[in-house]
Amino acid sequence: MDSLINKTIAYVKQELEHAEGGHDWFHIERVWRNSKLINQIEKGDQLVIELGALLHDIADSKFHNGDEKIGPKKARAFLSGQECPTHIIDHVISIIENISFKGGKVQRTFSSKELDIVQDADRLDAIGAIGIARTFNFGGYKNHKIYDPEIPPNLKMTKEEYKKSQAPTINHFYEKLLLLKDRMNTAKGKELAQQRHQFMEDFLSQFYSEWKGIK
Ligand code: ADP
Ligand code: NI
Repeated sequence: MDSLINKTIAYVKQELEHAEGGHDWFHIERVWRNSKLINQIEKGDQLVIELGALLHDIADSKFHNGDEKIGPKKARAFLSGQECPTHIIDHVISIIENISFKGGKVQRTFSSKELDIVQDADRLDAIGAIGIARTFNFGGYKNHKIYDPEIPPNLKMTKEEYKKSQAPTINHFYEKLLLLKDRMNTAKGKELAQQRHQFMEDFLSQFYSEWKGIK
């Protein structure tokens, strides 16, 4: 198992070498670490969880013209070349296919404890100080405005609108980040999300008071 994990790490590092800063190897490493932390309590299948965490963003559709098939396809091709049982491969691919937020409007087509755990770890990395850093990095990468008081958040976006949104980065807090604490799957995930959520609320209050020039 260790050598499969090590080979997967090497593959992921190589594939994500030039990735945007919020979706690079270090994002994967944090999700992997937090998945293992949550799994100490949840006791799911360790191999499925580790492979799911390591491969979940191997080819994010956001960076591949919206193609949602390329990630699962690449992960399956990689795992098929390793000594990995088919039922494990199938489960890992189902995690990759179902982990994404996509505006929160899409129903999962698959459920498992292992998906719950990796999804919580991915969501934890979308909130708190790291979540704020990743979000502004993504906004900068897309050349979005930081904030525009004339453009309100849109909570009614379809999945397609969400994926194409050019809105200011602050709007993403209302369209995704602040919604995540109530969508955590596991008890540990819920617990860890509380403090990170509060940190974002504090950040936004400070942001608006500085924007207005109020001391
Ligand atoms: P998932 O990877 O769960 O599908 P998203 O695609 O919504 O989630 O995005 C992952 C991360 O990328 C977000 O948590 C955020 O940091 C960043 N991101 C995605 N879309 C935007 C956006 N429109 N503005 C700013 N950051 C974004
Ligand atoms: Ni991710």
